[in-house]
Amino acid sequence: MGARVLIIGGGGREHALAWRLRRSPSVSEILCAPGNAGIASEATCVAVGADDLPGLVALAQERRPDLVVVGPEGPLCAGLADRLADAGIRVFGPSRAAAEIEGSKVFAKQLMQAAGVPTADFFVAHTFEDATAYIDAHPGPLVVKADGLAGGKGVLLCQDADHARKAARSILSEHAFGAAGARIVIEQRLSGREASLMALCDGERVVLLPSAEDHKAAYDGDRGPNTGGMGAYSPTPLCDAALAERVRVSVIEKIVSALAASGRPYRGVLYAGLMLTPDRGPMVLEFNCRFGDPEAQVVLARFADDLYPWLLGVAVGRMPEGLPCLDARAAVCVVKAAGGYPGSYQKGIEIQGLDDAASLPDVMLFHAGTARDARGRLVTAGGRVVGTTALGESVAAARTRAYEAVARIHFRGQHHRTDIAARDS
Ligand code: AMP
Ligand code: GLY
Repeated sequence: MGARVLIIGGGGREHALAWRLRRSPSVSEILCAPGNAGIASEATCVAVGADDLPGLVALAQERRPDLVVVGPEGPLCAGLADRLADAGIRVFGPSRAAAEIEGSKVFAKQLMQAAGVPTADFFVAHTFEDATAYIDAHPGPLVVKADGLAGGKGVLLCQDADHARKAARSILSEHAFGAAGARIVIEQRLSGREASLMALCDGERVVLLPSAEDHKAAYDGDRGPNTGGMGAYSPTPLCDAALAERVRVSVIEKIVSALAASGRPYRGVLYAGLMLTPDRGPMVLEFNCRFGDPEAQVVLARFADDLYPWLLGVAVGRMPEGLPCLDARAAVCVVKAAGGYPGSYQKGIEIQGLDDAASLPDVMLFHAGTARDARGRLVTAGGRVVGTTALGESVAAARTRAYEAVARIHFRGQHHRTDIAARDS
């Protein structure tokens, strides 16, 4: 009898986790709360929301999974891993104290500073007066960030001092992000290209996952508002083996050691968002306490090993020896989004062509905002609808295949970027 796994979340990332775990010889049953219409073909979905901590603990106590895998940051920062551990249930995902690396930008910056991890110079302001004093003394482009979780919207890139003062006022005085903006970080604006590097961490040991690059802006050419991510690809030539090794040693291991030394052992996936600066090398923009989405879709597509022992090893504080086996091929994910996203959008629009797209070789359709309506039809249920992910011998080949699948999927108002991975194809 194999293991029973409970996955928390209902996006493309959780679909990719369910898909990969379904292919694990160690796993016999997968539950997902709340899941989505695509996850339902890999797992038994249970209607408990990812932010309903008491409901999730009760579900885990009732079903007694061998492992709970938490996808999103919200429940981790609210302490879901701690509550599950208290109930004697093994969990992949950091404790609330360790998840502060994402939950508080002030905490993350102070930890980086203390551990000597390269990051932009910064100042923490509690009042608008403090903020203006710093801004006046630091002309040049700045970035103003709300301290707490703000659904990816709490980072304001500012051209000049006037803009930075307005940003500080909106967060500290007008409470644009509520309690998440009780303090702000003001930092130097860096330039360069961005890459994401994720690592599995069992409290002590760090195992890098393949590099990935995300496309955050809504429209082609990196124009338009920021989104959760419109596509991703892996590997990125920007982050070759030598650079990844440098980041492992100078960033991830230092942070994991500093967290352990402060009594917050980190068990989960640690995501470093990096700016590759031409003069100062890789610098950390942010940490996330979870898999990135859509990065997880391309990284898990290339994770050719049995995933379960790795996730379990992280949960119990002892990963398997050696390194996981990876697929040498490249992966590209193109997100199809609802019309209007990341602004307001309609739900309940019928989606067509998914079976046709899925019949292409080496194509995986990771559902994000999808549901079945009363008549059993697949309909949109979120902003990012489906991550069309493909493997290929090169980034260019994977990209061609992903776009072939994209062309077969239709729903009213749909939009996607046409330049995902184009720069490196
Ligand atoms: P975050 O929500 O922390 O991922 O930040 C969102 C985006 O803001 C990052 O992906 C970067 O594009 C940008 N960003 C954050 N910090 C800086 C910085 N210090 N300099 C330049 N861009 C930044
Ligand atoms: N794709 C960026 C993130 O998951 O935060």
